Amino acid sequence: MAEKDVDDCIIRPVLPSELVVVKGINEAVLPENYPTFFYYDVYRNWGDVFLVALCDGRIVGYIMNRIETKIDRSNILLWKTVKVGHVISIAVLPEYRNRGLGSRLLEKAIDLMKQNYGIKKVYLEVRISNEVAINLYKKFGFTIKERIPRYYRDGEDAYLMEKELEQ
Ligand SMILES: CC(C)(COP(=O)(O)OP(=O)(O)OC[C@H]1O[C@@H](n2cnc3c(N)ncnc32)[C@H](O)[C@@H]1OP(=O)(O)O)[C@@H](O)C(=O)NCCC(=O)NCCS
Repeated sequence: MAEKDVDDCIIRPVLPSELVVVKGINEAVLPENYPTFFYYDVYRNWGDVFLVALCDGRIVGYIMNRIETKIDRSNILLWKTVKVGHVISIAVLPEYRNRGLGSRLLEKAIDLMKQNYGIKKVYLEVRISNEVAINLYKKFGFTIKERIPRYYRDGEDAYLMEKELEQ
């Protein structure tokens, strides 16, 4: 497979007309797929942190995130809540991998989630066999917090990985 030059690629928020392409990439490279309405729903709520990588005029990768409100466990007596970012899905087309696009998508998404929503941490689930993705997340300072048995439909376990953000 010919490797592509990614120097001129840009990372930016997805447009609604591009959600169908994102869905296509997701279905081509990951077994975790979602109905069309789900993409529109995430876009409607958190479209500013739903990013695509655009190379040679075509979308070659995406990161889809949502913002969740959780109880602040650092002081449960105060009954305060905190905002956290949840990476729902990230993918790059095979011929564009290993060029830093996954890192650029993740970095920009985390920055924007922090700037726009004031999130205190980011978390995600990943298949325990997905070494490439686990390496990517570790490189960004995510650590494994938990192993979730049979999280995926085919019975594979997930790691729940988390990264606390500096304020
Ligand atoms: C995970 C994925 C998005 C990474 O995209 P990418 O553009 O290749 O990522 P990068 O080039 O920025 O690489 C980031 C890091 O991933 C890790 N990595 C990438 N390719 C790797 C490989 N073949 N083996 C081991 N680690 C690898 C490395 O830690 C790398 O950092 P480094 O280049 O500094 O060593 C991509 O592999 C992909 O789309 N995979 C299929 C979908 C998927 O598994 N998504 C995650 C679901 S939780």
